[in-house]
Amino acid sequence: MFRSDEIKDLEIEKGTGIYLYDKEGNQFIDCEAGTFNLSLGYCNKEIVDAVNEQSQKLTHLTSSYLAEPVVRLAKKLIDISPKNLTRATTKVCGGSTANEGAIKLAQYYNKKSEVISFYRSHVGQTIYMQNVSGNSFRKEPFHFPQSDIAHMNYPYCYRCPYNSTYPECQCKCVDEIEEYLNYGSTGNVSSLIIEPIQGNGGNQIPPKEYYKKLKKLCEECHIELIFDEIQTGIGRLGTMFAAQYFDVEPNMITTAKGLGGSGYQIAAILMEEKFNIMESHFHSFTYGSNVLSCTAANKTLEIIDNEEFLKHVREAGNYILERLEKFKDKYSFIGDVRGVGLMIGVEIVKDRETKESDVELTKEIAKRAFQNRLLLRTSLYGLGNVFKIRPSLNITFEECEVMMDKLEKVLDSFVY
Ligand SMILES: Cc1ncc(COP(=O)(O)O)c(C=O)c1O
Repeated sequence: MFRSDEIKDLEIEKGTGIYLYDKEGNQFIDCEAGTFNLSLGYCNKEIVDAVNEQSQKLTHLTSSYLAEPVVRLAKKLIDISPKNLTRATTKVCGGSTANEGAIKLAQYYNKKSEVISFYRSHVGQTIYMQNVSGNSFRKEPFHFPQSDIAHMNYPYCYRCPYNSTYPECQCKCVDEIEEYLNYGSTGNVSSLIIEPIQGNGGNQIPPKEYYKKLKKLCEECHIELIFDEIQTGIGRLGTMFAAQYFDVEPNMITTAKGLGGSGYQIAAILMEEKFNIMESHFHSFTYGSNVLSCTAANKTLEIIDNEEFLKHVREAGNYILERLEKFKDKYSFIGDVRGVGLMIGVEIVKDRETKESDVELTKEIAKRAFQNRLLLRTSLYGLGNVFKIRPSLNITFEECEVMMDKLEKVLDSFVY
């Protein structure tokens, strides 16, 4: 990942919308909404006002008692979820602990132990979720057992692990999971956790049919399907959740990041009724259900859960994708452009024929973007040759245009 000293030295003084400002007053456009979590931009006024108002009444309460913003948020989360999800808990303190909680809930319910995850996935950074994640480099320095976790191929369509293409492949990656269940597992698989669009692993978008087939397999094998919607949730795809975009009903959804709207720390597990048997002391954290964060999340959902708003996300995303498709005609180093709504990735290659990845060029693009005051991020996950475009969802069309013009200027500098 590109981490120049220059970026480390960048000291930000303030932020508003998609913009960040350093001490000298230089303006940067953040193409990534922080870590894809500022769904409504820096210092969103409506959210800040709501939090300020709440902070006059109650700032924190042990989650053993109920506070109005917490109850309201749980109700709203259920309201916007696929209809099979009728329970919500916010007693977690981030994406990693939400995912860990979902895995525990599955184990508690079905009394099984194994977990299936995917290569190149990023589902958290606690020691357990690090293990469940699909990248060796982050596990290497540490020593903890990998037992009971199996990693499978994610449908990386641009580089199909089976050298096939969709739809001819008939979603062979699901057949591989079935093979594992039949011949590799202990016959004790409790849950399968998947990012509906693999975020850090290179913005991989499976075909819709993949999820139909996966859901069917999970049902047949009594495996709880967990959607890690920590990046895809809360409007990022132009639907409230990816589950709605892919038209599939997972048994649980975890959400965090964008739920905080303007950077407030909040996460939740949405689940089917059957999981509501685990006592909360098995998974609750001091700062879970934080009253101020729940207030921010309520305001965030009030704004995003609106068809006009979601339409804007889809249209802004389409505009960016169209511009990127045109860039593809112009720059041979763009191998693939893929996205849904405002979750977009651009894969950089040395050669379109061989698809050899170009990590150095990807880093250089991020570096020159930074010099042009455009904050772009790449990822250590996956091959490291994908840069992402995931701005705040309320980015205006004019801002999209300015952002893409700047990006074009950066990419031009590698050609002309
Ligand atoms: C898809 C996904 N899942 C889980 C996590 C972990 O979330 P947190 O950093 O809030 O623990 C992340 C964080 O980047 C993520 O992108």
